[in-house]
Amino acid sequence: MRKPIIAGNWKMNKTIPEAKTLVTGVLDKLSGFNDVEVLFCPPFTALSTVKELIKGTSCKLGAQDLYWKEKGAFTGEVSPLMLKDVGCDYVIIGHSERRQFFGETDETVNEKVKAALAVGIKPIICVGESLAEREAGETNALITRQTEKALAGIEASAIANMVIAYEPIWAIGTGKSSSASDANEVIGLIRNTVARIFSKAIAAEVRIQYGGSVKPENVKEYMSQSEIDGALVGGASLEVDSFIKLIRY
Ligand code: PGA
Repeated sequence: MRKPIIAGNWKMNKTIPEAKTLVTGVLDKLSGFNDVEVLFCPPFTALSTVKELIKGTSCKLGAQDLYWKEKGAFTGEVSPLMLKDVGCDYVIIGHSERRQFFGETDETVNEKVKAALAVGIKPIICVGESLAEREAGETNALITRQTEKALAGIEASAIANMVIAYEPIWAIGTGKSSSASDANEVIGLIRNTVARIFSKAIAAEVRIQYGGSVKPENVKEYMSQSEIDGALVGGASLEVDSFIKLIRY
């Protein structure tokens, strides 16, 4: 059984005091609830604060990016070891905002996936098409390519430890979400791609999330689809009430 995973990607939001208020508020309303894996992905500056707050709970900590080198002259970057050091369980890799604004490519995504796995941090690999690509009928080819390239050279034994997030770019932060059945279809395609590269058994273990304008009002519909194992949530993860509603869908 794949345990559902609801992840809050805070993006570039929340100071340390704001992070404390949000996480404390969520934890207060969460006690004893263990049916889904809950993951907070704050900005780098709040990682250690959130780690302290979730100690002794089943909630997990994730970063939003990393660099693949262990250390050295890479001004502004954060290494896998540093994320391990601060207590990250997960790291988001290849988010469309990184691909769009910061030059992330399929090749750098692959480097980052390998680097995270090497220190025992679970990657959440993001894939997704733009509106133009969807309208041109390129979705399936693009998603297949992004998935294959992200997983190139990865050991089969590592696959069960990772999460893939399907996030159509046109649905992120726009209020326009993909229909649950369309999302389910693309996620099925991702799972088949993993099965083709590795095996059906391995593909059956990988958790694949949907992301893009997931809200309390639509989360249930996504989570009732056979292939969808969770949500990667931006906007609706920034308030206690909406994030709790998502977790308790
Ligand atoms: P959104 O963002 O929920 O605000 O659409 C999702 C994401 O980018 O992970």
